Amino acid sequence: MTGAVLLLLALGLVEGGGRCILNRTEEHCVCRELSEESVGSIVQCLPASVVEFWGGDLERYAALPIGDLQPSAIEILESLSIRKLVFGDLLVPEVLLARVLKLFSYTQVQELVFESCTFMGSSNWDEMAGRNLPITTLRFRNVTAAPVTGHEQGFSSLSRWLESLQELAVTGSRVTALPCAVGRVFGALRSLDVAHNGLADSGLAVAFCEGAFPQLRVLSLQRNNLTSYHGVCESLQLLHQLQHLDISQNRLRLTAHPTSSCQWPMSLQSLNLSHTGLDEMLTPLPPNLEVLDISCNHLRTLDISLGSLKTLLVSQNMLQDISFLRNCPMLEVLYLDDNLVSELPWDELRLLGHLRDIGAAGNPYNCSCSGAAGIQRLAATGHLGPAWPQDYMCHSPPRYRDILVKDVSVSVLQCNRAAVIAPICVILGILCVAGVVCLARSKYRLFQACRRAVKGP
Ligand SMILES: *[C@@H]1O[C@H](CO)[C@@H](O)[C@H](O)[C@H]1NC(C)=O
Ligand SMILES: *[C@@H]1O[C@H](CO)[C@@H](O)[C@H](O)[C@H]1NC(C)=O
Ligand SMILES: *[C@@H]1O[C@H](CO)[C@@H](O)[C@H](O)[C@H]1NC(C)=O
Ligand SMILES: *[C@@H]1O[C@H](CO)[C@@H](O)[C@H](O)[C@H]1NC(C)=O
Ligand SMILES: *[C@@H]1O[C@H](CO)[C@@H](O)[C@H](O)[C@H]1NC(C)=O
Repeated sequence: MTGAVLLLLALGLVEGGGRCILNRTEEHCVCRELSEESVGSIVQCLPASVVEFWGGDLERYAALPIGDLQPSAIEILESLSIRKLVFGDLLVPEVLLARVLKLFSYTQVQELVFESCTFMGSSNWDEMAGRNLPITTLRFRNVTAAPVTGHEQGFSSLSRWLESLQELAVTGSRVTALPCAVGRVFGALRSLDVAHNGLADSGLAVAFCEGAFPQLRVLSLQRNNLTSYHGVCESLQLLHQLQHLDISQNRLRLTAHPTSSCQWPMSLQSLNLSHTGLDEMLTPLPPNLEVLDISCNHLRTLDISLGSLKTLLVSQNMLQDISFLRNCPMLEVLYLDDNLVSELPWDELRLLGHLRDIGAAGNPYNCSCSGAAGIQRLAATGHLGPAWPQDYMCHSPPRYRDILVKDVSVSVLQCNRAAVIAPICVILGILCVAGVVCLARSKYRLFQACRRAVKGP
């Protein structure tokens, strides 16, 4: 027990009168503003798999003596079931962190999260050299002095561990650069999230230099300071394993080189371009894309041809028709809510045999017969989402304005006069001809009978 408490103490001892509360069903323990009196309540957290410490100041404990542990203490650390540790609203002296980090090698903690923390001072990480840790996921959210930048020396001591890290997130922390050497340390990293930072186009090529993040599958650059689509494409060319890329919420422009020959990694399956201020579609698109999110832009037309695309999200644009679907034969999911589409032609949609989830609410539908009938047929397939029928309104013709598409009567007689009238005319025509022939025949027979009568036997 002492070892476990020592670890938790070293990390969680903070000012105030708070305590720890364990939720047994969730195996989740949250400690707030612990004081010296209430620190005993940490013991409650021992059965938890997620433990959070919020509030306070660890500075006073920077000098805490954490020497070599007794075998009994090690045994207890090994028996702890904690998998995830969260530290929030804390001042973290790096000296303390460096000393405590090695204790983690005796635990099964897989995920370490620092949220709204300020890291202070610097430390010597030599003791960590060559040491491995079970932590595979490391997250920093809204931290000051993000340990990723400017700590090259520490990086080399920690490299044994960082080499095996799978997931890293440094979000909302004003990161403006990732040195090339940093990326090269993270040899096994599969997911990197650097959303909500200040990365610019120029810094990107450096961060993803030759040999950096060789195993990266998932990359989020959401909400940074990127402007050039081709710049992003060129900077990421060397990530040969990249599958998911999010560059949403950047102000992208088609910059100087529209004929850029950049090639996206062939492995790229999903691309998020939502909220990027686009008024025309960017090219080239990754050729093997399966998921494309371009919602919340200003697109009026869309010219794409993606043979493997399965999910297309284009809600909140200004698209007027869905002719672009012709070149996406494998489409399964299509969201085009809140555009300017007036028709969903059934003839075109039924050719997309894999389509099974469609969202198309909030468009100004033309409820002339064929228009309303097409949408009603689509609804009958059961593939229109939960917004049907209440969010599908007619916009034209004027007599149907603001009526639900569902309520427009599309009976054959009303809608397709030609279809009803043409057969009737044909039938009438045939009847007329038949009548005339009969009449002629009966007249002829009468004439013959008369002639016979006149001639006599
Ligand atoms: C534990 O968490 C569950 C799910 O969030 C919640 O329903 C329950 O009320 C919590 N229990 C306690 C004791 O807070
Ligand atoms: C970010 O962290 C600071 C303290 O470092 C805190 O005052 C602020 O509220 C945090 N912001 C968010 C959005 O969490
Ligand atoms: C983004 O870039 C602009 C101009 O390049 C600069 O003025 C601004 O400070 C940058 N923003 C961030 C968050 O770095
Ligand atoms: C794309 O990013 C936005 C946030 O910018 C997010 O809301 C959306 O869910 C993402 N799309 C996909 C397909 O993950
Ligand atoms: C609505 O559709 C009908 C029939 O296709 C067409 O004649 C009419 O011009 C359309 N109205 C609008 C406003 O697009």
